[in-house]
Amino acid sequence: MCGIVGYIGSKEAQGVLLGGLRRLEYRGYDSSGIVTLGDRSTLLRAKGKVAELEAKVTENKTIDGVGIGHTRWATHGVPSEENAHPHKSGDIYLVHNGIIENYKELKKELKDHEFVSQTDTEVLAALINSLYDNETSLESAVTQALQLVDGTYGIAVLSTREPEKIVVARSGSPLIIGVGKDETVIASDASALIGHTENAIYLNDGEIAVCRAGSVDLTDLSSQPLSAKVEKIEADMSAIQKQGYDHFLLKEIMEQPTTLQSTLNGRVDPKENRAMLGGLNMTQAELRQIEHVVIIGCGTAYYAGMLASYYLEQLVDGLTVDVEIASELRYRSFHLPKNSVALIVSQSGETADTLACLREIKRRGVKTLGVINAVGSTIAREVDGGVYVHAGPEISVASTKAFTSQVAAMTVFGVQLAQAKGAGVQELNQYINELADLPDEIEKVLAAHRDEIKEVAAKYTKYDHALFLGRDTLYPAALEGALKLKEISYIQAEGYAGGELKHGPLALIDDRFFEVMLLQDNWLFDKGVSNLAEVNARGGHVVVITNSTKQIDAETIVRVDTKLDALVPVVLNVIQQLFAYYVAVARGNDVDQPRNLAKSVTVE
Ligand code: M6R
Repeated sequence: MCGIVGYIGSKEAQGVLLGGLRRLEYRGYDSSGIVTLGDRSTLLRAKGKVAELEAKVTENKTIDGVGIGHTRWATHGVPSEENAHPHKSGDIYLVHNGIIENYKELKKELKDHEFVSQTDTEVLAALINSLYDNETSLESAVTQALQLVDGTYGIAVLSTREPEKIVVARSGSPLIIGVGKDETVIASDASALIGHTENAIYLNDGEIAVCRAGSVDLTDLSSQPLSAKVEKIEADMSAIQKQGYDHFLLKEIMEQPTTLQSTLNGRVDPKENRAMLGGLNMTQAELRQIEHVVIIGCGTAYYAGMLASYYLEQLVDGLTVDVEIASELRYRSFHLPKNSVALIVSQSGETADTLACLREIKRRGVKTLGVINAVGSTIAREVDGGVYVHAGPEISVASTKAFTSQVAAMTVFGVQLAQAKGAGVQELNQYINELADLPDEIEKVLAAHRDEIKEVAAKYTKYDHALFLGRDTLYPAALEGALKLKEISYIQAEGYAGGELKHGPLALIDDRFFEVMLLQDNWLFDKGVSNLAEVNARGGHVVVITNSTKQIDAETIVRVDTKLDALVPVVLNVIQQLFAYYVAVARGNDVDQPRNLAKSVTVE
């Protein structure tokens, strides 16, 4: 979604800001803009890609050392140059992530400002300006304005009257301040800071910072000084580059053996027959007490939770597990039984609905554990305990390696819980060994099937509809396969439990559809084969993805050789990722930044 960058120092701000905005492109956006201050202010904005903005910068080069920039993902008002940030009011310029909920009421009061956009952000700019008289500092005007605002924001504000500072603030939308020698770089996402500095201050909600070249002063909303904690940014440049791949998505699919190994390092030990996550902040006695687990996430994180829920149920005798879509749960009158813990699953750690659930669950005094990828993210900072999955920056909007790592981390949690509750060595042995073998198995499958899947995908690019089917643990995998295909290929794709076919979706089978059926060689194999027969009998075009060597009747069969059993869905899912990727590429789509989508959904 929207992205913020800011720079103050001795470099040319335009170049630094454009570089930062390019790093933020992956988040999804539809317009961008920058303003820099020198002898005069230079405001440049463009609809579309950052390349459009870059062309304007080339025609309007400055050597200014201070500026702010933004990529906008439209919420209030269409994507257009007028609605793009920065917004100007009087002497100030503002970029904003989030939503000002009471902007209509505030707008009515701001009669002196002639509004030129449809955005809530311009209202905030006008509000700050209305409080910014000759006696008032920029930070004081910002502080007063924010006390009148309802909603969420991460903001950066510049004033032509005080060009030696950038004022930033946050409430519900991330902001990070990179502190370098004689320069300060601001971003809403750590990826824009990489290469500038390793030292960063992660702003907390309710904090305001005055950033000067190489120094930062922090206060709360009552202007009380706060001390800033400087932390290290972990990612390096290579993690945010394509490294020879055509797309980040393919890179992220192919690097799963390595990223998954990072998830499991030090956490799974087959020799000692142990699996353990540090960082839960729970004693063995507390773990033993857990009777109910609720897993919460959105999109792929939700499907990862759903798959993991099957494993938790299998691993821990008597444990009850619910999996919830965050945007639904947050508005329900839900009840959590006593001795519950909540697993909060998020790649970005910034998803607004997931964050809202976390806060509500904490308010109820229930223990929250994060399963998070982005280090230093808001959810990671607010949970009571939990783990980073260490999959590294995921740049492509479609989530792939995070899913695999999330499932693995939650499965380790299941083993740990079972161990704490006294499960026998034999019972857990299979899961521990499979987790340890999973990176190699995925590597083998990726190497063996990449070219084959490219060819298979070519046969199915012409369809406009798809059904993904699976039973038991393959059901959440089917849901995830459908999500991956629809978001990057724009083929309408739905996932169903195989047993549900006769209850409705069978009516859809015709020549406009193809079906992806996940089949595992286990006790449900014959049931799956019956579902397959039902589809074949109606002229279906079925792609079976299976670990079985048995006779199967289908238009296309992808046979995966793996020694795994419980974790077969994770392996078959990797095939689905490749399939979605190659279909999307064949259809000529922007696979890394699919239309209308954002990487990090920081507003409702
Ligand atoms: O950052 P999160 O894991 O909280 O994001 C959740 C979803 O927005 C995300 O998984 C989304 O569904 C992806 N585009 C799926 O590929």
